[in-house]
Amino acid sequence: MQLCVSPGKGLTGTCRVPGDKSISHRAALIGALAEGITEIHNFLWGSDCLQTLQCLNALGVEIEQKDGCILVKGRGLEGFQEPSDILNAGNSGTTMRLLLGVLASQGIFTVLTGDDSLRQRPMGRVITPLMMMGAQISGRSGNKLAPLAVQGNPCLQPIEYRLPIPSAQVKSAVLLAGLNASGVTTVIQPLQSRDHTERMLKVFGASLTVDGDLIRLEGKMPLQGQTVRVPGDISAAAYLIVAATLVPGSEILIRDVGVNPTRTGILDVLEMMGASIQVQNKCSWNGEPVADLLVRSARLRGAVIKGKMLPRVLDEIPVLAVAAAAAQGETEISDAGELRVKETDRLRAIASELCKMGVLIKEKQDGLWIGGGQILGAQVNSWGDHRIAMALAVAGFCAMDETLIDDAGCLEISFPSFPYLFRELGAFIEAEN
Ligand code: S3P
Repeated sequence: MQLCVSPGKGLTGTCRVPGDKSISHRAALIGALAEGITEIHNFLWGSDCLQTLQCLNALGVEIEQKDGCILVKGRGLEGFQEPSDILNAGNSGTTMRLLLGVLASQGIFTVLTGDDSLRQRPMGRVITPLMMMGAQISGRSGNKLAPLAVQGNPCLQPIEYRLPIPSAQVKSAVLLAGLNASGVTTVIQPLQSRDHTERMLKVFGASLTVDGDLIRLEGKMPLQGQTVRVPGDISAAAYLIVAATLVPGSEILIRDVGVNPTRTGILDVLEMMGASIQVQNKCSWNGEPVADLLVRSARLRGAVIKGKMLPRVLDEIPVLAVAAAAAQGETEISDAGELRVKETDRLRAIASELCKMGVLIKEKQDGLWIGGGQILGAQVNSWGDHRIAMALAVAGFCAMDETLIDDAGCLEISFPSFPYLFRELGAFIEAEN
């Protein structure tokens, strides 16, 4: 698919973004491990989350659609069936890493694979702690790359594990394995990453405590199915927030967005750059903070983005690079080396494509340097990465001329309604196959 984006008048109106991707994955996986039915409202119908449902289905989990929500019939902590074929996580790192945590403790043999991108992404970070707990996992490149073969172990040992990187997927994999370990699993996180797993496990009745950087989970305690309402994805809202900020004359209200503090780095950084974002009607859905966001256009100035802010804003760096490109003054982003092992090398991808749009941008080993100014229209490529495709579309809305984004079908991964939603707010965007 090719996206054709033209600069236009301000974005105006009220909208909602699709359900949060991280929370959708977790609701399905934790629901599958619980007893009874879990009903999930506002589940993200993006291909990443559908991949999780497909894998769960192959493991014997019954999943039904009813009146726009999904019903997951839990199989309990040890009830998964051995699938007769390979499980495919597609492009989804969250599916593969969280599922590895679940499969580590099931007494079954499974093989997991993914698409070209996922088969190059580091899995050793999850495999190392799971093997310490007693699971047998082998894979390519010395047990670091998928396809991965897992022989689960129903008698996992609890461990005390200090996370070497601030990764929510690694933390979650260890906790999900810990659900079935005999004793207390402890995770120490020197830097806070998104905490949706901890919050959701508590809602499902797990015996989990968080004390500073220590997370403790008692194993072998059954979970109870729940009704989960998934908040709007702040990572999807980020494209609307940046576009409305940059396109003069904009005013949009985005309703029901998840504003978990481990995810709101985008709001903090944009406010530091001079954006106008009001957080209204705060409430809580299943232990997750939710609010409406009112965004008006504003002139931005460059900023320095580094240190412990990064885990709170990492997925939004491509679209922040676009904000920085349109801002006055320089922006420097550091401590973002993890972006090199996402769906693509996002530092290289965004630097190379924004350069085609006339932006002064330089790749650093662990970040980007961006000289603010003008953005020109150009023909660019998504590198098959949904967040690059959508960031480039936002660049197109505030460029001087038309922008064509090739290979943009990947936005199906997390935000299938992206072109329609922007069109409803008044943007000029066409999707062509
Ligand atoms: C995710 C965690 C993050 C994020 C990814 C989704 C999750 O990765 O980049 O898009 O749902 O747990 P890390 O595991 O590197 O924190």
